[in-house]
Amino acid sequence: MNFIPISEAMRKGKGKVAVRGWVYRERGSNKLKFIVLRDSTNIIQCVLEKNKFEKQWQDIDKLQIESSIEIEGEIKEDKRAPTGFEIHATNFKLVGESNEFPINKDLNEELLGDRRHLWLRSRKMSSILKIRDTVLKSLREHWRSRGFYEFNTPSILGMQAEGGSTLFKVDYFGKPLYLCQTWQLHAETGIYALEKIFTIQPSFRAEQSKTSRHLTEYWHAEMEVAWAKFEELQDDAESAIKDVIKNVLAENKSELKILERDTKILESSLKKKFPRITYSDALKLLKEKKKMNISWGKDLRTIEEDKLSEIYDTPVIVSLYPKVVKAFYMKEADKHPKEGKVVLGFDVIAPESYGEIVGGSQREESIKKLTENLKEQGEDPSKYEFYFDSRRYGGVPHGGYGLGVERLLSWICKLETIKDASPFPRTMTRWYP
Ligand code: 4AD
Ligand code: MG
Repeated sequence: MNFIPISEAMRKGKGKVAVRGWVYRERGSNKLKFIVLRDSTNIIQCVLEKNKFEKQWQDIDKLQIESSIEIEGEIKEDKRAPTGFEIHATNFKLVGESNEFPINKDLNEELLGDRRHLWLRSRKMSSILKIRDTVLKSLREHWRSRGFYEFNTPSILGMQAEGGSTLFKVDYFGKPLYLCQTWQLHAETGIYALEKIFTIQPSFRAEQSKTSRHLTEYWHAEMEVAWAKFEELQDDAESAIKDVIKNVLAENKSELKILERDTKILESSLKKKFPRITYSDALKLLKEKKKMNISWGKDLRTIEEDKLSEIYDTPVIVSLYPKVVKAFYMKEADKHPKEGKVVLGFDVIAPESYGEIVGGSQREESIKKLTENLKEQGEDPSKYEFYFDSRRYGGVPHGGYGLGVERLLSWICKLETIKDASPFPRTMTRWYP
């Protein structure tokens, strides 16, 4: 038998086909068996008649959900079948049995989490995983087509970059090291070799919060460029997100349909320019439109980001945050509002209350300022000597950003929890399987 994917068999639409996969649903009588077969491409109804399979009927009659089988037969259109086609089987082979597949509609979130390795086979999860693939591919293509090199850095590091409170300690042959929160510090040295670089690799955050948008391990798509201007970094983040949306809308129509995603907001996000406002503007807007009073200098929390996102039908870019709420490496702006010092940092906040999907900045070039900032955070600047070298030997203006792959995917698919954006999520309370 020459097996073809179910989607291809449906395109063919008539004649002899051979397909293989797993039993998605089964029902029948002692004369007739209806099997909905699933492979990675689609599902299709198959009909097996007892009088054609006398010898194998015992196997066929016992078939349970997720058994693996091969089927050969005639395909034809049938409006009543779940995907509009049906295969009348002439050949059947049982490949692998499945007894009492332990996934059903009544499982709570905890049990589905424990059985994640099996739940991945669901139409919901496999649709999300396909869209995730488009997201990763689009980001790579976005940067590659602009002359960026893929550049990787270690996941075990001796220093923090995003604040000590979310560091995971690693016992490294008795020495206390950490899991990386970002590739950024090493990337800032890499641009002196390659100028324009990106990575897509895991980052780790010891997030104590059990929210719908925090993972302890997530995939981080980051870029760093030499000679960067602050505006250009925002332009690139906007166009990277648009490239992702464009490809998902073009390539994942059926997956978005399975997820029942209304795509209106994805379409408006693709068409419109993302509004760019400052942190101070954001406070004004929140006060005027949402009756929220936030004192200048406080970071925008989930609730504020969510209220802000309600004002727009595209992502919004917020920049020029107070220096005190941002990382040590962000460059201080030349001009400051009367309220206090600001940095050339920006966040991209997703619509529909999906929070921050990108964080980026122009990088501080002054070793003196970096040292002061680190000391203020209680860090030991001597751990950062390699980093300072990027300023000592031919330093240039530069910057970059990081995009949370699962955050973006969560929004694109409108998921209830970020956990579903990852095949095997890691949170404070979830590390199995
Ligand atoms: O804003 P963050 O902390 O910025 C950085 O790490 C920079 N060093 C990036 C850079 O300039 N190269 O993180 C960047 C993004 C956030 O906007 C968010 O999308 C995602 O990473 N992120 C998380 N995603 C899932 N779970 C978490 N706990 C996350 N923390 C951050
Ligand atoms: Mg951030």
